[in-house]
Amino acid sequence: MSKELKIAIAGLGTVGTGLIKLINDNADLLKARSGADIRITAVCARDKNKDRGVDLSGYEWFDDASEMAVKADADVFVELIGGTQGIALEATRAALAAGRDVVTANKAMLAFHGTALARLAEDNGCTIGFEAAVAGGIPIVKAMREGLAGNRIERVYGILNGTCNYILSTMEETGRSFEDVLAEAQAEGYAEADPAFDIGGIDAAHKLSLLASLAFGTEVDFGAVSVEGIERIEAGDIAYAREFGYRIKLVGAAQQTTHGIEQRVHPCLVPQSSVIGSVGGVFNAVIVEGDAVGQANFVGRGAGDGPTASAVAADIIDLAKGLRQPVFSVPANSLKPSNPSPMSDHEGAYYLRLQVLDQPGVMAGITVILGEAEVSIDSIIQRSRAPGEPVPIVILTHETREGVMMDAVAQLGKHPAMQEPPRLIRIENF
Ligand code: NAP
Ligand code: HSE
Repeated sequence: MSKELKIAIAGLGTVGTGLIKLINDNADLLKARSGADIRITAVCARDKNKDRGVDLSGYEWFDDASEMAVKADADVFVELIGGTQGIALEATRAALAAGRDVVTANKAMLAFHGTALARLAEDNGCTIGFEAAVAGGIPIVKAMREGLAGNRIERVYGILNGTCNYILSTMEETGRSFEDVLAEAQAEGYAEADPAFDIGGIDAAHKLSLLASLAFGTEVDFGAVSVEGIERIEAGDIAYAREFGYRIKLVGAAQQTTHGIEQRVHPCLVPQSSVIGSVGGVFNAVIVEGDAVGQANFVGRGAGDGPTASAVAADIIDLAKGLRQPVFSVPANSLKPSNPSPMSDHEGAYYLRLQVLDQPGVMAGITVILGEAEVSIDSIIQRSRAPGEPVPIVILTHETREGVMMDAVAQLGKHPAMQEPPRLIRIENF
């Protein structure tokens, strides 16, 4: 007799309905690959009467996700509601406490409660699959937990938010406005319930905190991530970056430094020809650098119903096969503290845009301030000529310590010809 794995799905939005379609469309394949009949037995959402484009008539309906987590006739609780706390967290805790495995796409919840939930899972002999929580359809969690398990990871970085990548690359390609492209990303189902999480870098930071834990064997520590979003990126910055051979991407990076572990999410100039410089649209890219493997690159769709359902299904198939492992690669109690490295110790190059009055001596004053701070200039542009009027000056620096750069920027901000606060964007020559 063939085995059966019964699943209960909480949340029937973009990802939940995508998962139901995938399980129905690929049922034979899932059975052949897992050795089990994967059967949806129960579902839950807010509105029972909403038309979701999928047939729910064969499943038991629950209004309350926490009740479903413990009472449904199911082996696995699939959490696709979202949110850092509230019902998603409550129901996940209830399922784990009842000894049920959980599969979730909820990076926000794991970024804050990942370590505690991993402990709860282990205490109750079950696990949490979260492939869909990081980089959508890219199987990066599995790659880091299994395929790259023999490596000491030195750095993991990439494009972790499909909405931002879609916005930045579409703005560059079409010259359309930020607001217009964001509305399109929302309509496609890429954006979070609150899109401020996407454009503010918070969603990417949630994901980065999970990658950092997998990479360095540390507790998940969202608070250790330095976060900056793309809200202040202007079309002019994108155009200047292109002139210098760069593109602007929202980058997430976690790396071991001599000061500790640096975790950061911010807009960044990256070479157009680099792996992440050439990844556009809703695609994500994750690059892992390990001592044995060198650099391993992963590219794929980072959001949307199909890619995310693909990742959720992979976790469900693992459970159907009986594959269970510690949530963050090592037992939760052996995860180390995150040991954050301050951003003032970050070493890097910078893009600096200054809006100044076009007056004699201004350029000299700027270079004196940078020189006295020991910030070395790599390239500089001041093309327009508008005597007495504001003009942009764009400077690329050589590598310097961020604390030094911030002091120099504070001095520049006080220059009498400065018309608006200096704009600083990090550069990574990946
Ligand atoms: P969504 O389209 O907004 O769907 C959320 C679902 O949760 C809806 O069906 C909603 O019910 C249900 N829900 C909300 N509050 C509930 C409650 N109190 N009790 C029961 N159900 C409730 O969200 P989504 O885009 O599918 O995202 C789901 C999760 O996947 C989130 O954690 C998100 O971060 C993550 N994720 C999304 C993507 C993506 O591309 N969309 C990619 C990766 C990860 P109603 O439909 O009745 O309102
Ligand atoms: N809002 C997220 C994004 C969904 O745009 O990448 C995938 O996590």
